[in-house]
Parts: sequence; structure tokens; C-alpha cells
Amino acid sequence: MAFDAATPNTRETLRFLACGSVDDGKSSLIGRLLWETGQVMDDTRATLARDSRRFGTTGEAPDLALLLDGLEAERAQGITIDVAYRSFATARRSFLVADTPGHEQYTRNMATGASGCDAAVLLADARRGLLVQTRRHATICALLGIRDLVLAVNKMDLVGFDEAAFHSIAAEFAALATSLGFRSASAVPISARHGDNVTTASAAMPWHDGPPLLTLLEDLPLQRPELAAAPRLPVQWVNRASPDFRGLCGTVAAGIWRRGDAITVATTGATSRIARILGPDGEREQAEAGEAVTLLLAEEIDAAHGDLLAPPDQRPTVASQFAADLVWFDAEPLLPGRDYLLRAGTAWTPCTVTRIRHRLDIATGTTEPADSAAMNEVVLANLSTLQPLAFDPYAECRPTGGLILVDRTSNRTVGAGMIRHALRRAANIHRQAGLVTPAARAALLGQSPRVVWFTGLSGSGKSTIARLVEQRLHAAGRATMLLDGDNLRHGLNRDLGFTEADRVENIRRAGEAAKLLAEAGLIAICAFISPFRADRRMVRDLLPPGSFLEIFVDASLADCIRRDPKGLYAKALAGEIPNFTGIGSVYEPPEAPELILRSTPGTTPEALADAVLARLAAP
Ligand code: ADX
Repeated sequence: MAFDAATPNTRETLRFLACGSVDDGKSSLIGRLLWETGQVMDDTRATLARDSRRFGTTGEAPDLALLLDGLEAERAQGITIDVAYRSFATARRSFLVADTPGHEQYTRNMATGASGCDAAVLLADARRGLLVQTRRHATICALLGIRDLVLAVNKMDLVGFDEAAFHSIAAEFAALATSLGFRSASAVPISARHGDNVTTASAAMPWHDGPPLLTLLEDLPLQRPELAAAPRLPVQWVNRASPDFRGLCGTVAAGIWRRGDAITVATTGATSRIARILGPDGEREQAEAGEAVTLLLAEEIDAAHGDLLAPPDQRPTVASQFAADLVWFDAEPLLPGRDYLLRAGTAWTPCTVTRIRHRLDIATGTTEPADSAAMNEVVLANLSTLQPLAFDPYAECRPTGGLILVDRTSNRTVGAGMIRHALRRAANIHRQAGLVTPAARAALLGQSPRVVWFTGLSGSGKSTIARLVEQRLHAAGRATMLLDGDNLRHGLNRDLGFTEADRVENIRRAGEAAKLLAEAGLIAICAFISPFRADRRMVRDLLPPGSFLEIFVDASLADCIRRDPKGLYAKALAGEIPNFTGIGSVYEPPEAPELILRSTPGTTPEALADAVLARLAAP
């Protein structure tokens, strides 16, 4: 499964996602399905009867929505249940329903639930018809690879079981489902509260000639396309139980592996053959998608956690630049150039979004230009990973085509992605190693290259100190170069302003430039406000360990405003410069800089420059 580790599918189980808000009657519907398929124990029935009389909204009849309230209570206690799975069964098949809370962060929960589901049931209120929310749910289901959709038009009792009301909603739904490319889409008029057309045909709606909801669900094809896909095994860990035992462990992501099959590590091409397959119950002939196994190979090859195993003649794409649909979960927007951690299968790698190609207007299905993504938005973006990634297009294989992005500071999962394809631009560009190495260039200059990065508020003294530091290093015979925010913004970065997105790109380019200078053997002295932690970390990660020195020029905002060397604070305070750092835009101070310079009215730039030189001389 792409995004979560819930129990894998089995051949007989239909997994479906229930989408809708509490107001649409989702709890009542799931409650009724459980109730009428006999999943509810006698003692629970008794409790429910009692609770229904006290809190229910259904008179003498049990209020089935209350069945699910135990879970709501657990949520209220702070027990995190992003997706609740409930099972029920009929004589024909068993079902696992993923119930995702529909609050603000619904895309996160939907993505988690939907990535493992075969089908989705969307709920609509007969009185209100299809809402923007319904369209959002359908769009996300389509993106996440769900192919069969059922619309339950609920609360038919409240519209007098009116046939025309249902048909107009059903027609609108059919058009929506077609535009999103679903394989099947059916609509059924129901009353979850009274049980019409849920498990049995409704006497109140004799005009409806289709089956009740449960029969529709029994008739849906069981999808499991990953069984038919090319075999894939992401390596979870390498088991070295004894010197003569080395097993590659993981859950088969796709296809069927058999003893004797040839096997290749996708990123390196190392190839061997499966000698034995061990499952939880001992040795076996084969293992299929969803099963956890240990593979013993005929010849040892280098393989480690994060590798993807594939047959040599059906290898996945390996690329470090690719396009993916991204669903953004986080309150902090997605910004191109910012550094995230990407997880795909068992692999982790630093990653940036290099470009947002468009944003999807979920309500209308159209696309629009965008340079960022806010919470619950969907964009098509180009991604670039530090290490090459082995993947399949999500449309071909969900388990090896899905990814998540994690914020490097907070560790929050901030988005999920469905990979479309590698970028040809990247596919035909390979790194070329030069004949002269960075170390050889540095040796010629007789120095250790460094990137000395000053960060702090505008007016804190960064540029002044940086200039003095360069002057002294130069006088001492060092080969240096100065990069200053204001100067770069007249050349390399002249197309950039001060929006969050532009600042991220400003620092990315400055970081890449500093890296080139360091590779040339120079000591690069850089002065940028660089207000965001994530971006400074990205520059740090571009460089060899130990060569990046982050120097925080720590001046109070009040002092900077008083000093105001360029008169910009006065303008910003007068509302003439939007997004001015410290006034209309945040500055995130470093958490663990190599050096802090306290810049107060009592200190001189010369003394602070001395402190930098002392730090540079230190081993
Ligand atoms: S950064 O935030 O993207 O790192 P950078 O260091 O390149 O900024 O440029 C900052 C300089 O641009 C400031 O010293 C100031 O002279 C000027 N400037 C103009 N507008 C702004 C603004 N809105 N916020 C901060 N600095 C600004």
C-alpha cells in the first residue's frame, strides 16, 4: 500500500472508502451496514437501544449513528485515529470500510484511506445534491487510483422519496464520474436512518429499479491490480541472523514472486536468483502482493533497506527527476525549492519540488497556474530527489508509485504524491565527473573551501561584517568570494521578489552558487537574510559535512529599526513594503548555528568580524 500499513487486501475482501460528512449521514449508513449484516453483538445492541432512547434522534428505533460514537469519543480523547477500518460480511464476500473523518484535514485522511481501497461510496444529502465537497472527494478518489464509485443519495425520506430529485442528482453524478474517468459509477437512493435501499430494497421507492447499496457493493469487481503488476519487493531490512544466513525481508508490493525467479536491485542493477522464500509459516514456493517474506538469494548481492527488487526484464523507472500529482496536507504551504524528505516504499531521500506545473481546481476540474500549494490543494509538480528513486507510475502500480513528503523540521507528513513519469530532461542528463576534482582545486589554493553563511534581519550588520571578513581573509592570502543578497538580486536573482516562494528560490540559487564557489576551492562568504530554517538547511545539505558555517547575526528588531541603514523599516512600517522581514514576514532564527554574533549598539562590526575569523581558524 502506498501510504499506510493497514492490513493488506485479500482476494475475497472488498475494501472501500466512505466519504461524506457527519451531516450526510455517514455514521448512520456505516452503522446500518454493520447492524443489518449482523456484526453488532447482543450486548452492544442492548446498550444502543438504551443510548438511543436517551440521546438518539430516531424515536423508538435504535439510532445507528450512535454505534460509531465510541470511536468519536476515542478521537475526542486524543487517540489518533486518522482512518478507522470496520469490517462486515455477507454470504458473498467480506468488506472492509475505511471511514475517514471529514474535518479540515480531510485530504490527509482520504489519501491514507483511499490508497488501499478498491472502491468508494460517496454520500450526498438528497436535499442538497452534489456539493463542492462531493466533487473534491470524487477527484481525490480518482487521483488515488480508485476506479469504482458509488453515490449514496441519502435522506430520501426527507424529500418524500421523490424520484425526480434522485434522478437529477444521479445525472449530475454520472457526468462528474465520466469526466474523472472512473470505470464504473452507480447511484442509489437510500435512507440510512430508516434502512431504505441499504441492504434490502425499499418499499417506499418502488420506482428505483437498481439493487440496494449492499448488493451493488457485492457486485463490484475486486480490483487488486497490483497482483497483475510486475513483481516488486521493497527491502525493509536485511536479516543477518548468523554468518551463513542473509535474508532480504519486506512485504511484496506487487506481483507474484516464485522460487527460482531472477531478481535485480533496481538502482544498481545487481542481479541474483531467489533460492528460498520464507513466510511466517515456513518455506514456500511463492509469495504475492501483500505478503511479508524473507528472500534468500543464490548469490549474495549488495542490497539494503530502501532498495526496490524487481525482475531484471521488468525493471521500474529509476530517476531523480519526475512529475507527480501532489495532495498537500499541511497548514504551511508547499513551496518550490524547499527541502523535504520523501518516502517511497521503504526508501527515504531528501527532495525538493523544482516546479509546480499547475494547480487543480477541484471544484471545476480545470487547472490553473500556481507557484505554491495550500492545505487540501492538489498540484502537478516536478520533483527532484537527492538519491535516484526506483518507482512505477502510480497508475500502473499504486504501491510503488505513491510517495509521501515529510517536513524536515517538524517531521509532519505534509503531502502525498502519485508519480506520473520521469522527466525526460533528467533521463538524458548524467553527471559528468571532471578530470580535476574539488579537492585538487582546493589543494592548489592551499586552503579548505568553506561557505560562511551570514543570516539575520535586514540591518543586523550581516553585509558589513561579511565585507570585513572577506577583506581580512584576502589580506591573509586566502582566495575568497563574496555573495550578498542585495547584489545577487541585481543579477542572477533579478527576477525574484520577496514572496515566500521567491525567497526560497533566492536562497536555493544562492546556495547552488556558493556550492560552485566551494567546488572551485574558494571561501565563499554569503550574506542573506535567509529567513527560513528549511532553506538554510537545504544549503547546508548541498555541501560536504563541516564546510558550511551558519553565522547568526543576532540583532533585536528594535535595534534594526533604530539603525535602519537603508530607510526600509520606515517604509515597511508605513505599509509601503509588504512582506518586509520582521514586519510583515517572519524570521526563523537558527537553532544550532556554528556561531552567534550578538549585534548590539555597543558592539563594533570589527569586533564581530574578529570573532568570525577566530571561529574559522578553529579546527
Ligand atoms: S532573503 O530574504 O531572500 O534572504 P536577501 O538577503 O536576498 O533576502 O535580500 C534582502 C535585502 O533586500 C534587504 O537587505 C533589503 O535591502 C532588501 N529588501 C527589499 N524588500 C525587502 C523585503 N520585503 N524584505 C526584506 N528585505 C527586503
